[in-house]
Amino acid sequence: MIDKGTIDKVMETAQGQITEVVSEFVNLKRRGINYIGHCPFHNEKTPSFIVSPHKGIYKCFGCGKGGNAVNFLMDHEQISFIEAIKILGKKFHIHIEEKELTPEEMAHQNDRESMLVVTNFAAGYFSDRLHKSDEGKSVGLGYFRERKFRDDIIQKFQLGYSPETKDAFTKEALRQGYKLGFLEKTGLTIVREDYKADRFRGRVIFPIHSLAGKVIGFGGRVLRTDAKTAKYLNSPESEIYHKSRVLYGMYQARQEIARQDKCILVEGYTDVLSFHQAGISNVVASSGTALTPDQIRLIARFSKNLTIIFDGDAAGIKASLRGIDLVLEEGLNVKVLLLPDGEDPDSYAKKLGGEALREYIQKYETDFIRFKTGLLMEESKDDPIGRARLVQDIVRTISVIPDSITRTEYVKDCSSLMKVEEQVLYMEIGKLRKKRQEDASKRSSYDRPPVQASGSAAGALRPGTDQLVARAASSSSNPFETEEREVLRFLLKYGDTSMGEFEFEEGNREVTVGEYIVSELRQDELESVNPLYNKMMELYEENFRKENFSSSGFFVSSSDSQISSLATDLIAREYSLSRIHSKLGVVSTEEDMLDDLVPKVVTELKWRKVKVLLEEKRQQLKKAEEEKNQEKFLELLQELNNLQQAFIYISKALGNRTVV
Ligand code: CTP
Ligand code: MN
Repeated sequence: MIDKGTIDKVMETAQGQITEVVSEFVNLKRRGINYIGHCPFHNEKTPSFIVSPHKGIYKCFGCGKGGNAVNFLMDHEQISFIEAIKILGKKFHIHIEEKELTPEEMAHQNDRESMLVVTNFAAGYFSDRLHKSDEGKSVGLGYFRERKFRDDIIQKFQLGYSPETKDAFTKEALRQGYKLGFLEKTGLTIVREDYKADRFRGRVIFPIHSLAGKVIGFGGRVLRTDAKTAKYLNSPESEIYHKSRVLYGMYQARQEIARQDKCILVEGYTDVLSFHQAGISNVVASSGTALTPDQIRLIARFSKNLTIIFDGDAAGIKASLRGIDLVLEEGLNVKVLLLPDGEDPDSYAKKLGGEALREYIQKYETDFIRFKTGLLMEESKDDPIGRARLVQDIVRTISVIPDSITRTEYVKDCSSLMKVEEQVLYMEIGKLRKKRQEDASKRSSYDRPPVQASGSAAGALRPGTDQLVARAASSSSNPFETEEREVLRFLLKYGDTSMGEFEFEEGNREVTVGEYIVSELRQDELESVNPLYNKMMELYEENFRKENFSSSGFFVSSSDSQISSLATDLIAREYSLSRIHSKLGVVSTEEDMLDDLVPKVVTELKWRKVKVLLEEKRQQLKKAEEEKNQEKFLELLQELNNLQQAFIYISKALGNRTVV
């Protein structure tokens, strides 16, 4: 745990030196008060990636990515908030003060750390054996050479070799002082009462890395083809290795997956190696098992576009179809690719080479649902019952897709593929979705996840929940989105600027833009349906009177990644917006016109809200009339009257401005 003070200090420093942080990865050129370069997050020919040292933000006008220095590192290196803070701390020579752990946390942490020390040692040992021992060189390296793996790939994946001798590794580890307990916990040593032996013997070794690049487990492949043991042996589950949460190669692929916004999934260790060797490095392996929800979420952190490659045997493919519905449910776009008979990704990559393989994928990857429909159609050609089952099956698959527009597209496609009317499909989908929602709401009443503390770094540490909140907020449509954002934009950019003197009972005094907005919105109790906007208003109110408060700095450097990224977006809009051309052709800046513009945007927001409210009241009034509820009717009439007064007042305030 890093204490809040240290985090703030690192963020502050990094904000002031954002160009230094970014220019480690991007070639930046000075352009006025800003810097410009080619965006590292997407491919572009003309540079549209801007860094503003003055504001402490970066923003790409091509792909929309933006944020502060910490966001940049998190995004570019695909690391967590805490990891980014640690790296920046080191860079700016800020000592990272770690909070003291409870004895229990300490023991747990120590356990995990000791295990990682052991796996790290083991990875080094296996690699050393591969390159330096006679047995390793002739047997292990010989094997990799025979399979045509290049040295740079062997290095990149830290491949190794475990000697035949029953306990060569364990003996060496103990000799060097590693504790037997941790050798056993990591599964590297098998301990019986009167007997200790290495788990991996006479195998080539594939270390499995965590996202941060630590070795957490191993896969070992036998070399003899006649062997009676399993072809692959893997580390057992442990405190540091949870098979269901890990994808082989993610550490080496994560950056490329994010950059290309696409992840390729293959089955095995060697498939991953061969793709890398062919120059395609956005690839990970599920290690021969069906994808788990955790693994899907892991992929989704880097890209929503997934292409699954099958080695072409129909039975195997059918078995994995059901599992893919899970992937759709997480909102990923899934494509599948079949390889020719007898080929697997490893052999095919070697046969085609990078260029041709890339083209092959591009050409033959097929949208999953279309693929599945086609495959099952083929099977149930002359079988009416089979056809009915097929429709049910496809409907179920489409119904799990979270996005309604995507669902609509599939209904169209599948309707024509299966020759079933769209209406029929919609009805079935509707039924399934309704049922699922009911089930979910029943469940949620007793197993709701615990609400976590917000406002601290914790938010940024758990992108999962953040994303959920963001999704909920954006999907519950906000009729005042434009106006509310505009008000927030002024609050952020000009919050600290004075709007001149205002009259108060206790005399005249200056009022800032921020104070004006806060008091106007509070006065009329104008809350947003977007919890993020409300949270930002609250934070502003809590903090704006503090010394050295800067409204843009405060939000841009927020450790809540949702807030800092929205703040960046809002502030960055100035590049396109802030010059106002008057009728006389005089160019003035927004900043010159704040006393005019700020009341305008606030009033526009109120005007829109009152307008909607008026419409609601009218509906209610009509209903009360129909129901002959006289009491209610009179009450509503009074309310409507008040609202109308307010509406006229606001409209006047807006003057002749046309607002729609
Ligand atoms: N696997 C496993 N245990 C086994 C067999 C397979 O864990 N007994 C996993 C491995 O991760 C393996 C993947 O399933 O990489 C795919 O299995 P397979 O296609 O049999 O292996 P390949 O990756 O093709 O390995 P090779 O090319 O070395 O035969
Ligand atoms: Mn294979």
